[in-house]
Amino acid sequence: MSLASLILRNGKNGFGFGTTAEQVTAGLDLTGKSILVTGSTSGLGEATARVLSQRGARIFAAARTTEKAAALCRTLSGAPYPVACDLADPSSVLACVDDIARSGVVLDAIICNAGIMALPQLELAFGYEKQFFTNHIGHFLLVTRLLPQLAPRGRIVMVSSDAHRMAPRGGIDFENLSGEQSYTAWQAYGRSKIANLLFAKSLGQRLQPGQSANAVHPGVIMTNLQRSMSPFMRTMMQLGEPLFLKTVAQGAATQCYVAVHPSMTENGEYFADCNVRQPRRAARDRELAERLWQVSERIVAEVTGSAPVH
Ligand SMILES: NC(=O)c1ccc[n+]([C@@H]2O[C@H](COP(=O)([O-])OP(=O)(O)OC[C@H]3O[C@@H](n4cnc5c(N)ncnc54)[C@H](OP(=O)(O)O)[C@@H]3O)[C@@H](O)[C@H]2O)c1
Repeated sequence: MSLASLILRNGKNGFGFGTTAEQVTAGLDLTGKSILVTGSTSGLGEATARVLSQRGARIFAAARTTEKAAALCRTLSGAPYPVACDLADPSSVLACVDDIARSGVVLDAIICNAGIMALPQLELAFGYEKQFFTNHIGHFLLVTRLLPQLAPRGRIVMVSSDAHRMAPRGGIDFENLSGEQSYTAWQAYGRSKIANLLFAKSLGQRLQPGQSANAVHPGVIMTNLQRSMSPFMRTMMQLGEPLFLKTVAQGAATQCYVAVHPSMTENGEYFADCNVRQPRRAARDRELAERLWQVSERIVAEVTGSAPVH
């Protein structure tokens, strides 16, 4: 537990920086709930899947491959459902949607947790910068196609980051989605994370009354996410861990809170430390959110060879 956990005060709902996923779900009976978690094989996704399954939820555990998802499911309680979903591969995402639809499940929550961060060199997926494509477009395709499976009070949770503040001026540089005009690792990550926020905002407007879409910042936590960072940066993080960083259990708390807690009634908001937080101004720009939605629809149509669905 870091020093920050000890000195920062909790928010209005009694939860805060130091709250763990176990604590935020204590006393909840999630029996009968079905929850899809992407990136469930590592870090915050794994902790989220484990805690929610311990509370009785049936976890639909998405991972890059069926083997990885099945291995994770062997460690979860209940009757978890492994599903392959490589977010950087639209055919894999569509196969995942088909698999889940065929299962007949009604999803109470979709936790869009998978992500990659700060790739040192520009990498492309289908002609688009890979973090934007994986973190945003992959989840956009998955969620918009799964909406028919969402429960009447279903919740979408986009795991964003305070690193959305590193996105380019104006939020999204639509003319540079390939990254080929300019590329810096953190700006590209920030752009993908502001896209998660903007997606939650515009999705929240489109959902049925009772359903919600929100974005979260989990905190800063040592996980496999830092694999692309330089050894120097990783060492600095390790040194700062006892002072400022969260544990994985604390990092998973905000997404668990937004996905299942009965006191969570917001829609289109941004959460950190289990409470609403104000994101950067561009992340609150409805016109920008709408433009991103239209551009994402066009990209999805282009890479799947299909017509837009919403
Ligand atoms: N850790 C932090 O400090 C921090 C801070 C702010 C926000 N976040 C956000 O929190 C989320 C979880 O991060 P984490 O720290 O738990 O990282 P992590 O331990 O690296 O876990 C990321 C997960 O995403 C999966 N993933 C990566 N690429 C994928 C793809 N193409 N298709 C499907 N799944 C893919 C990974 O699968 P593999 O194991 O197969 O690679 C892994 O299960 C991310 O969205 C991240 O941006 C984290």
